[in-house]
Amino acid sequence: MESRLIDNTIAYVKEVFATDFSGHDYFHTMRVYKMATKLALQEHADVQMVQLAALLHDVDDRKLSPETCVNKDRAVTFMQSQNLSEVTIEEIKEMIGEVSFAGTDSVVPKTLEGKCVQDADRLDALGAMGIARAFAYGGNHNRIMYDPEIKPILHMDKEEYENHVSTTVNHFYEKLFLLKDMMNTESAKVIAKHRERYMKEYIDEFMDEWEGLK
Ligand code: ADP
Ligand code: NI
Repeated sequence: MESRLIDNTIAYVKEVFATDFSGHDYFHTMRVYKMATKLALQEHADVQMVQLAALLHDVDDRKLSPETCVNKDRAVTFMQSQNLSEVTIEEIKEMIGEVSFAGTDSVVPKTLEGKCVQDADRLDALGAMGIARAFAYGGNHNRIMYDPEIKPILHMDKEEYENHVSTTVNHFYEKLFLLKDMMNTESAKVIAKHRERYMKEYIDEFMDEWEGLK
């Protein structure tokens, strides 16, 4: 299933993320790539387009590369170096632009391929992986784990969500527990359900231990 183009793209993202500490690491990208490939096969989407967008989805991320995030300059420059057509480059650019969670401003991707990539990225924020990533992010940003006095804020739009500072446990309510119902493909819905159940059990345990009940 792997082509020369995909091999080159994997090598490129490995290089881009070699120096990144924001949590948008190479291994997140590879998990999204593998999950997106699986979804693409199950959903009968164009596998190569899905793989390319999955691999490049975070190279121009707002937190990692704020100066290139609007025009996706890194992804575009890389694709040009691979002699991809203008049409393909535009399609991939559009798919990458649709991926991110943005509170109530989140978009539903226009194409089946975009849906597979968005679902794969969101699945990596759920389950055991999602729990680990949330606490890693919280530690990295000096957030406290939990404070019962600070309540989660729901229904935030893009700007509110991006500027909001909260506890890591609140992040579960402000984003992670919203993702299951935002999945696009039937294949991802099944996986999201399982991962969310696992996360909810984890939070229940966390709260019991917080109160010294267990
Ligand atoms: P992605 O679109 O790749 O999921 P994000 O930048 O939204 O990227 O988040 C990267 C990871 O960090 C995700 O697993 C996400 O849940 C987690 N994360 C983002 N914001 C917070 C936060 N405020 N507290 C805890 N974890 C967070
Ligand atoms: Ni991502």
